[in-house]
Amino acid sequence: MLVTLKKVIDMAENGNFCIPAFNVYNMETVMGVAEAAEELRAPVIMQVYPRLFNEEAGYYLAPVILAAAKKMTVPVCFHLDHGPSEYEVIKALRSGASGIMLDGSEHSFEDNVALTKHIADICGTVGVQVEGELGHIGSVNDDAMDEFTNPDDAAEFVRRTGVACLAVLIGNAHGHYKKPPKLDIERVKAIRKATGGIPLVLHGGSGIPDDQVKAAVAAGIRKMNIGTDVCCAFADGAKAELENPGRSLAVDLFMKPSIESVKRLAEEKIRLVGADGKA
Ligand code: 13P
Repeated sequence: MLVTLKKVIDMAENGNFCIPAFNVYNMETVMGVAEAAEELRAPVIMQVYPRLFNEEAGYYLAPVILAAAKKMTVPVCFHLDHGPSEYEVIKALRSGASGIMLDGSEHSFEDNVALTKHIADICGTVGVQVEGELGHIGSVNDDAMDEFTNPDDAAEFVRRTGVACLAVLIGNAHGHYKKPPKLDIERVKAIRKATGGIPLVLHGGSGIPDDQVKAAVAAGIRKMNIGTDVCCAFADGAKAELENPGRSLAVDLFMKPSIESVKRLAEEKIRLVGADGKA
């Protein structure tokens, strides 16, 4: 069933676990995540990069996510990931998104507050909540990371914007880490304390060692994003099938190992963040 961002985040907060948020790109990745969530009875988020909304893929992908959510008996939030401006936010809402991320982390603090609050107000009028970002989470290919999220700044940001959850920079980055990251777990606790317990979001979930993910969840991470691992799982399935001499040319049959591979990855992450059996 399709639910709001607040609904799944509240479930995680009340149950002391974390919602896995899978970036989806096509029907097959949606199917893999949906099957895993259903079988493990896990609430999940399916999220889409704004690039897809700005290209034609989003036009086709949004109804696929909504169809999956309609069929599923576990709670599913359809979320815009890293929305940069009102333009993408409106497109996502019009496509049926039930959660929105506004990423103003590359702006100054004041501009980030102003833009995020504006988007939170707009989304609030249609009952959708917003994830903000404070402390720019870059790519594993960047030369250096920005300054980690400051707890006092986070408290002011949350108070002034009204976000439902906050993405923070604590040593994480997007993509496959070149060497294992070292998350600043004490900072997670400090941000939680300073903000009065705002649910926190961990981006760059692909490749963080399991023990650090568990420590981060115990400290107050309530949503973890997984993108690169979804792509790799999909590609692994396709590669294995390409090497299968008995493979079918029919595209739907060719895609089955990719769906299965995404499903196995989703199951692993659902268990890792403790979302299994929580629906
Ligand atoms: P990864 O691709 O590193 O898993 O990060 C995904 C993400 O944080 C999307 O916002």
